[in-house]
Amino acid sequence: MSDEKIDYVVENKPCLVSLEAGKKYAWCTCKNSKTQPFCDGSHKGTDMRPMVFKAEKDEDVLLCACKATRSGPYCDGSHNNLEDVYAEATPEEIESMKNSVLIAPENGKALLDGGAYVLTPSDGNDKIADNVRYQPVIAEEDGATKLSLHRLIVSPGTTSWLQYKGVDTVLYFVSGAGTVDIAGKQFSVDREAGIYVRPGEAFRVITDQEMTIYATACPMLSDLTILQEHDTCFDESQQERYVAFDEKTANVMANRFYQELVDTKVGCNEVTQFIGQIPLSRAAMHRHLYEEAIVILTGSGRMWTGTKWAEVNTGDVLFLPHRQGHSLECTDDGGMLLMGVFYPSGSPAINY
Ligand code: FES
Repeated sequence: MSDEKIDYVVENKPCLVSLEAGKKYAWCTCKNSKTQPFCDGSHKGTDMRPMVFKAEKDEDVLLCACKATRSGPYCDGSHNNLEDVYAEATPEEIESMKNSVLIAPENGKALLDGGAYVLTPSDGNDKIADNVRYQPVIAEEDGATKLSLHRLIVSPGTTSWLQYKGVDTVLYFVSGAGTVDIAGKQFSVDREAGIYVRPGEAFRVITDQEMTIYATACPMLSDLTILQEHDTCFDESQQERYVAFDEKTANVMANRFYQELVDTKVGCNEVTQFIGQIPLSRAAMHRHLYEEAIVILTGSGRMWTGTKWAEVNTGDVLFLPHRQGHSLECTDDGGMLLMGVFYPSGSPAINY
């Protein structure tokens, strides 16, 4: 699409469409069609043409309706930048949820609509293996189907070799610094950064301070295996693994920003990890096609899912099943910083 300012927005949200394998579709590019996102012939008399494409498989996709995408026919999140403010909840939406029920946590977990939840991890739930304490915070029994999440707290020393057997592993460093040894290759790591461990590799953490780490396994695997020794080799075909947060290169999305950490640029094709900052605000209710885990790094607020809501605070974990409507509200003047990780991979800016 052109870089020119779009002065007429058909709809600043993508359309959820079920494509059929082998079928051809004509995506409207002129903005005049009344059957968005598809062409209805309204471009006639202009020099615009629809973009014709063939679906390779049966799948649900989000097609761009705003026509600002640079990845037509698919939404690339550009609709979020068409206005100065990210789509926030309207007074009508806020009014419609005024009877939503505040869910108080039970055993640290506030269960919201559709299986979404807010969890405050408790140290009492940790298992211990030498100098690492760990607990699942998103697992199969919580309703997750795509990814799992463990919180690891590492004390000074060297951990055993750890492994999520046969799946992608993505680590995020919340606090502390040290070295991550991936099957014999060592990386210096610090807070506000992520690292990718490829399927089949084991890893260990070497540190002289306490570190808090979140470990995502994808596809879903709830078991973290503790090994006495590693018999795996570092996959030399993918040397780059570590990505640190750099505010200067973050993607600006209206009045908020995000930066992808672990994703395809370090060879991770299944899952995307990002860090994002949101201002004092309440997002409009929206959905994603992916299953998502969020860790609140700083700040506090509320998670709304339609008929229910829960308080969220620094250190909490949020689980969002795919297609679950939700709205995260930040109630801190200083904003909220969060780490998100989701499957299937893509852009965190894409929602509907
Ligand atoms: S709807 Fe156009 S980029 Fe998302």
